[in-house]
Amino acid sequence: MSKMYENKKNYTIKGEINKNYSICLSGQTKTPPFCDGSHKKNSESNGPYIHKCKKNEDLFICGCGGSTNKPWCDGSHQKCPEHDDYMKRW
Ligand code: FES
Repeated sequence: MSKMYENKKNYTIKGEINKNYSICLSGQTKTPPFCDGSHKKNSESNGPYIHKCKKNEDLFICGCGGSTNKPWCDGSHQKCPEHDDYMKRW
């Protein structure tokens, strides 16, 4: 499994207005949850998802790999057998 999805919970980022975030979609980054260009080593991998914040907002990015709405967390991590008590509160 990639480092991106070893987190077993979401990455919570304080998004700043008018700032672009390059979020890994390939799962190959070594700097999760952000793209580090690792997807370029595999021609079949997806490039990053670029998100521009229209306001200051919290970004909840999937770190478990189970979301059906990547890069965003959809709560699927709560179904992961490994998730801990912290995640039950999310
Ligand atoms: S961290 Fe993957 S669905 Fe929430």
